[in-house]
Amino acid sequence: MGFPKNFVWGTATASYQIEGSMLEDGRGECVWYRFSHTPGKVNNNDTGDVACDHYHRYREDVALMAELGVPAYRFSIAWPRVLPQGIGVQNPAGLDFYDRLVDELLAHNIRPFVTLNHWDYPQALQDRGGWQVPASIEWFSEYADLMSRRLGDRVKDWITHNEPLVVAYVGYMFGHHAPGLSDRVAAFKVAHHLLMSHGAAVPIIRRNCAGAQVGITLNLSWLDPASDSQADREAVRRDDGFGNRWFLDPVFKGEYPADMVASLGETLEGLDLAEIKQAAVPTDFLGINYYTRGVVAADDTSPTKTRRVRMTGNPHTEMNWEVYPDGLRNLLVRVWKDYAPPAIYITENGAAYDDPTPQDGVVEDPDRIAYYQAHWKACEQALEQGVPLKGYFAWSLLDNFEWAHGYSKRFGLIYTDYATQQRTLKRSALVYRDLIARHKVQR
Ligand code: FCB
Repeated sequence: MGFPKNFVWGTATASYQIEGSMLEDGRGECVWYRFSHTPGKVNNNDTGDVACDHYHRYREDVALMAELGVPAYRFSIAWPRVLPQGIGVQNPAGLDFYDRLVDELLAHNIRPFVTLNHWDYPQALQDRGGWQVPASIEWFSEYADLMSRRLGDRVKDWITHNEPLVVAYVGYMFGHHAPGLSDRVAAFKVAHHLLMSHGAAVPIIRRNCAGAQVGITLNLSWLDPASDSQADREAVRRDDGFGNRWFLDPVFKGEYPADMVASLGETLEGLDLAEIKQAAVPTDFLGINYYTRGVVAADDTSPTKTRRVRMTGNPHTEMNWEVYPDGLRNLLVRVWKDYAPPAIYITENGAAYDDPTPQDGVVEDPDRIAYYQAHWKACEQALEQGVPLKGYFAWSLLDNFEWAHGYSKRFGLIYTDYATQQRTLKRSALVYRDLIARHKVQR
């Protein structure tokens, strides 16, 4: 395969999705704890209380990564585990846990990539207004300062936020994620403060960590119009503005897209849009999470609405997401051409399937293997076109708590038996292991 020698292969997880031990050892409550404990919010009323019990089993999980020979691991810090009230008093047991995890990774030659905010926001800060209030920028800065001081001698790769779009829109506009609000005005405030806090945190991390590589992870979509009609192409422009440019333009240009500002009008009232220039601090890389594309049509009921069309020609995953690897290549090329990030990592890519239970010590998952191989090919094509793609992280290391879907969706390379916490490799994990090993031989 045509991947460069220093290409970074990894797997990814997030704290709330795997750790469990939600209130143990002095950890503070997070918004997902509150949300998942509210009946009816999460499928089957599942919670992250136990999840994969990674808080206790991290050694076993690192050993599995080592067995697979995966050279990098992207994980997130649970903010209320280290700062139970979000700011102020630190929790030594929580800090120790991340110290031990990082040391364990390094002892196995695995390069840690740390995400600071992968959604398990401290409930104590939520109660003080959370991302809706400007003070949230200071709060995040304090947390970024603490973690980069603590781990900066050993962790060099930092991601400020994971998918600010999802926090803002899915949490505050659509209400499917914590904190479960349906408030458009709030959603744009949240997006604004998340982006501003990225701008504030990057120089802090650099100051505390010699040789830091800092970026942000965005979930970006490749969008195709459902037809060639002017109305459908216009619908793509709007969805692109809402989902892609609203986050990319602040980070790389220091401004919001003018067409969207004009159409959002009063929704943005009370925000100082010009200050978003502070979000455009130099970053070392852009993280992109890619799962599927969007096919967009105009919605006849309203000139400003759009709708998504389900394509029947291609297979769909268990999330009902179309398998569309060309979208990954197209997206990478587009982002590189339009925004010129110095480097790009795929910080998440993967697929949920209804896996069979383990047989003879392995889980057969041919659909996931096909998904991965097609997307690796797309990465290669992007590299051939000149995209500065530096690495790829498979989502996920192991089956885990898939947010509002609870435990019903399995994304892992490793199968988790939630009753026994037994881990079993899936065939896809072995395919990934072999790909990485082949790549190493070429070095
Ligand atoms: C992304 C999230 C990640 C995981 C995948 C399937 O939006 O960042 O935590 O749930 O989706």
